[in-house]
Amino acid sequence: MADNLIAPSILSADFARLGEEVVNVLNAGADIVHFDVMDNHFVPNLTIGPLVCEALRKHGVTAPIDVHLMVEPVDRIIPDFAQAGASYITFHPEASRHIDRSLQMIRDLGCKSGLVFNPGTPLHYLEHVLDKVDMILLMSVNPGFGGQSFIPSALDKLRQARKIIDDSGFDIRLEIDGGVNVGNIREIKEAGADTFVAGSAIFGKPDYKKVIDDMRAELAN
Ligand code: DX5
Ligand code: ZN
Repeated sequence: MADNLIAPSILSADFARLGEEVVNVLNAGADIVHFDVMDNHFVPNLTIGPLVCEALRKHGVTAPIDVHLMVEPVDRIIPDFAQAGASYITFHPEASRHIDRSLQMIRDLGCKSGLVFNPGTPLHYLEHVLDKVDMILLMSVNPGFGGQSFIPSALDKLRQARKIIDDSGFDIRLEIDGGVNVGNIREIKEAGADTFVAGSAIFGKPDYKKVIDDMRAELAN
């Protein structure tokens, strides 16, 4: 399995100092930047768009930016994020009428593509598009807010997704998002995840490096 990646969710960062926060968390050892896009329609909250992604690039952020679209529809906004410097663009299958087309569009624009599964969304959406997916993102909370508790049934779903990926032979990352912290990251990894989003667990603490180091120590065991 590929290396474990730690992906701080900037949803819990101080938005008034976003550039500085992202630089700080990357200097503290984060691998990729998780960028939550909410539209107050697909999810009950409103966050940031392509302009902010572009602003982070202009600020000198070179790490991969992992754009998690919680918007509906998705196709209109995908080119804007590709243009703004997104590395991964993931979306929820419920938010696209044509998931094959949306996935293909992301790759055609030079980004890595991914599908996101809410806690209650079945994995069968993967069945005919696995060859077009670079990332599977499993939500371990219902999307919309940071700081919620990890839903334990996500562990079983991770095991199922891990088996689907391994059986397929494709190079697909398995990301988990919601309620991840130092105390549960090891069992999440053991269930099959290789990419770990954490918002409040990192940005809610004064010392980002300590949290990330503690997470890595758990992942190493
Ligand atoms: C929830 C977002 C998550 C969220 C995670 O809709 O997709 O990325 O920021 O936050 P924590 O780690 O605090 O659960
Ligand atoms: Zn997210």
